[in-house]
Amino acid sequence: MKEKSSFSGQLGFVLAAAGSAVGVGNLWRFPYLVAKDGGGLFLIIYLVLVLTFGFTLLTTDISIGRKTGQSSIKAYATMRPKWKFLGVLTFVVPALIMTYYAVIGGWILKYVVVYLTGDFARAAEDTYFTEFITNPSSVWFGLIFMLATAVIVYNGVEGGIERCSKIIMPMLLFMVAGIAVFALTLKYSGGNGVVRTGLQGLKVYLVPDFTGLTIPRFLQIILDAMSQLFFSLSVSMGIMITYGSYVKKDVNLNRAISQIEIVDTGVALLAGVMIIPAVFVFSGTEGMAAGPSLMFVSLPKVFFAMGAAGKYIGLLFFLLAAFAALTSCISVLEAITANCMEMFHTERKKTTLVLSLIYLIATAVIALGYSIFYLEVSLPNGSTGQLLDIMDYISNSFLMPFISILSAILVGWLVKPQWIIDEMESTGDRFYRKKLYVIMIKYVVPVVMVILFLQSTGIWS
Ligand code: PHE
Repeated sequence: MKEKSSFSGQLGFVLAAAGSAVGVGNLWRFPYLVAKDGGGLFLIIYLVLVLTFGFTLLTTDISIGRKTGQSSIKAYATMRPKWKFLGVLTFVVPALIMTYYAVIGGWILKYVVVYLTGDFARAAEDTYFTEFITNPSSVWFGLIFMLATAVIVYNGVEGGIERCSKIIMPMLLFMVAGIAVFALTLKYSGGNGVVRTGLQGLKVYLVPDFTGLTIPRFLQIILDAMSQLFFSLSVSMGIMITYGSYVKKDVNLNRAISQIEIVDTGVALLAGVMIIPAVFVFSGTEGMAAGPSLMFVSLPKVFFAMGAAGKYIGLLFFLLAAFAALTSCISVLEAITANCMEMFHTERKKTTLVLSLIYLIATAVIALGYSIFYLEVSLPNGSTGQLLDIMDYISNSFLMPFISILSAILVGWLVKPQWIIDEMESTGDRFYRKKLYVIMIKYVVPVVMVILFLQSTGIWS
């Protein structure tokens, strides 16, 4: 039998896993939540959750992957044959995310083109984004993005995924840091003579805001931070199990996991330093729009207001966003590919070709969900959505919390935490946060995830 593919070493693994973790979630969702949920207050809560929940779930996924050497479906079946259903459920998450992630990647690609061709004044118009996505021709950008993803996955773990992450991730880190520093130097006087500076914006970002804080509001902030954390670390969706299965036995997982946490959180924090002061300087605190419109409507306005420099900063920003989205998109397709290869005993190239075909079609359908296939569905959490939001809702708000409850029960109570601890210490290194891990996986994760699940499905509000 052919030797199983793997990352070349710790660096390759950390960069690929960080590539999966760092995505649009860090760039648009995190800064928006900080602005909405009390600035530094959200930051403190988020950091505590990274060190407790994030660490626990990341450790669990990666250890399961490396120990079994398999992707989610087979890995859970290896742990407990009766729990194969959990593997299948986990597989469904990337299978659904894949239908829309390339669509978002395509939107970003469009803006890269807009800034390259110098049409950045038009991009700052209110209706530009809506006009773009409601035009069926926008499909092409999603298809190109999907195709690029497929080519990289087709080239394999070391030759495709690792190689691409090793080029992209350092550039991305450099660009985020650069734009963040630039954002702090901004200064702008609005029509009424009030001058706002980047440093004032930084204060809005960092200083905890306790005004109007009640207990329900505090709980809401914790839940926001928790669901952001899950999405951001790409945990409980089998992706980190697959990537873990490619890690060589001599890699110290303790160190690798801390590094992944640091890169993912670091980029999110820097994205905040880059976006919040910039939006604050040019649009005041009201400028922080929610979700996609922060990235595709508010930011283009900010870039336009910067004058000539805005054209280049805008280009840099959308390039880095495209990179972030690409390495995440790759990890989603890889998780699906790896599971299919193990289940059907097919080889990589053929598997990727078939999956690419399926997902090119899916991408087109979801992208057309804003034009030809437009529909409005009210979701259990109270919002109304199009096709993309439905997929997002099922995978992120419904399946992900559900999977982590089950996975915590399986690991904490049936297989027992020692199973994971053995893997973490298999290289002879010490598992520093062992006690924390045991308490988290047995008690805290199941209880808190049940609350998150009830809340995000609208059963408990
Ligand atoms: N972690 C990515 C982000 O922060 C999102 C993602 C989710 C990527 C699921 C892959 C799979 O944007």
